[in-house]
Amino acid sequence: MSEATALLTVAELSRHHDGGSVKALDGVTFEARGGEVVALTGPSGCGKSTLLSLIGLLDQPTSGSVSIAGQNLATVRQAGHFRLQHIGFVFQFHHMVATMTLLENVAAPLVALGLHRSERRARASAMLAQMDLSSRADFLPAKVSGGERQRAAVARALITRPPLLLADEPTGNLDSHNNTLVVELLMAHARAHGALVLIATHNPEIARKADRRIALRDGRLVA
Ligand SMILES: Nc1ncnc2c1ncn2[C@@H]1O[C@H](COP(=O)(O)OP(=O)(O)OP(=O)(O)O)[C@@H](O)[C@H]1O
Ligand SMILES: [Mg+2]
Repeated sequence: MSEATALLTVAELSRHHDGGSVKALDGVTFEARGGEVVALTGPSGCGKSTLLSLIGLLDQPTSGSVSIAGQNLATVRQAGHFRLQHIGFVFQFHHMVATMTLLENVAAPLVALGLHRSERRARASAMLAQMDLSSRADFLPAKVSGGERQRAAVARALITRPPLLLADEPTGNLDSHNNTLVVELLMAHARAHGALVLIATHNPEIARKADRRIALRDGRLVA
């Protein structure tokens, strides 16, 4: 895969802690392109969240590099702006703002993009409808179920139509119906927008449905 076609290039990426005694990630290299759904698998502690944090500009590597759409992340000046343009993130725990309704939470990323309130609300409503959440739009996160919150978190990550979607165990606390729904929505996003979806998961069903699997063990790629 050449630089020109890879949306994501990870090169010799390492993240060590405690003076090198903990190698959370150790010399990981791979590429992935738009439209792909890639499952990131491996036992607890193998480095999945570390890798997603480095790709998502939430952490910095000890050595090695990550490039997104041809830009080396080490050269990014405004991480927040870059993230807004390129990356959607779904965490295991939803990180919804407790004092805002689901609609307001989902619309929030569009404020930074400078969209008008009416357009923000229209897009957030449409996205909530896709997640089968129209009836919950005006509820606070604490007043809906865990599955509904997690679907709202997916809606919030997709609302900016990011070319790269990072999901860290997005279905960790969902029943199988919601699990399937969330995975299908992420896959539909990859197909519809040519986006790259990278999902860290312990869930064999997700790993099976992905186009490709990348397995980690002790911070290194498993061949
Ligand atoms: N700040 C830190 N200081 C020291 N060690 C850390 C730190 N962050 C992560 N680690 C270690 O790095 C390793 C990789 O952690 P990581 O969270 O990436 O694993 P994971 O694959 O996401 O695991 P899980 O499946 O349980 O979520 C673990 O051994 C973890 O204890
Ligand atoms: Mg993790």
